[in-house]
Amino acid sequence: AAALRLGIAGLGTVGIGVVKIVQRHATLLESRCGRPVEIVAVSARDRTKNRDADLSGYAWEDDPVALARRGDVDVFVELMGGHEGAAKAALEAAIAGGKDVVTANKALLAHHGQALAEAAEAAGRVIRFEAAVAGGIPVIKTLTEGLAGNAMRRVMGVMNGTCNYILTRMDSAGLPYDAVFEEARQLGYLEADPNLDVGGIDAGHKLSLLAAIAFGTRVSFDAVELEGIGRISIDDIRRAGDMGYKIKLLGVAQMTGRGLEQRMTPCLVPADSPLGQLQGGTNMVVLEGDSVGQIVLRGPGAGEGPTASAVMSDVIEIARGCRLPTFGQPAASLADPIPARANSP
Ligand code: NDP
Ligand code: HSE
Repeated sequence: AAALRLGIAGLGTVGIGVVKIVQRHATLLESRCGRPVEIVAVSARDRTKNRDADLSGYAWEDDPVALARRGDVDVFVELMGGHEGAAKAALEAAIAGGKDVVTANKALLAHHGQALAEAAEAAGRVIRFEAAVAGGIPVIKTLTEGLAGNAMRRVMGVMNGTCNYILTRMDSAGLPYDAVFEEARQLGYLEADPNLDVGGIDAGHKLSLLAAIAFGTRVSFDAVELEGIGRISIDDIRRAGDMGYKIKLLGVAQMTGRGLEQRMTPCLVPADSPLGQLQGGTNMVVLEGDSVGQIVLRGPGAGEGPTASAVMSDVIEIARGCRLPTFGQPAASLADPIPARANSP
């Protein structure tokens, strides 16, 4: 069968991780997909940068939009980041040019996922984004495939590893927020704009995507009630501990009588529960369906290998010919969520 030809835009942590998997697992991928998977072209900002992979066999494009338009690319893999600018323009160009798209870009999808999904479906293309929510945990495929026979009652979880690292480190080392924030910066855990992490915004992006899939509603990041972890003190953590609780930045999306509620806020969770015991940069997602009951998924939410693993699951899905709509059902059929603030007094 003809090879599935990838164009990869973005050769940073995740992009290079994907290149390595395609190179290392050529035989395994061919046997699992029934056709070879190969990279034909790549793009990044700086062509001269030394990267941790051999890229000599691939065509180079300085402009990701040009990569997205190449006639020899079947799937455009966007791993640049940024919710406007080059990533958005390249995704739109790929869809307009008849390519399927794989992306890890939760910020872009939280803001523009609905419009992109509608454009993709109108063009008969698919957008896959397993890596955008909880990194290496296959939560989207669990919802859209494994739990497709359930009406979902609630999805919740810890979806930002950096915040979980900060909160658990404050707890275990008895260090104040500012000291641990600085430690996280030195370890390279923080996004370029740290407020995306500690302000709960990155986790809110992920929750809005998960909620759309779980409840069949339009993606509505604006409707997520957000509160970050910047005001949590060591005393808050100690007092919670005295009562048998841990503080977690917890996302909850649930359908209520008044519509979909989405919250990403610091919460008290029992210290002996799976969420309470979640340590370090790990993520956990709890899915509650009407037939299955509760499912708990735990794993790495970031990093080269885990995130590239999730990107590859999307590439393989496309190579196998699966054509599920972007949010698990046609974008035009997604219901309007109520703005969460309409619930507030
Ligand atoms: P990096 O910053 O490591 O890499 C970004 C890459 O994109 C770089 O190679 C950069 O080029 C390239 N790039 C940026 N802007 C442009 C542009 N305008 N034109 C061409 N190339 C561009 O990012 P990550 O790999 O960490 O993240 C990629 C995506 O994956 C993001 O959307 C992120 O949110 C998401 N993600 C990341 C996770 C992680 O653990 N890192 C986890 C889950 C999702 P150059 O190298 O030349 O500077
Ligand atoms: N900044 C994110 C986190 C990266 O800490 O979880 C993965 O999306």
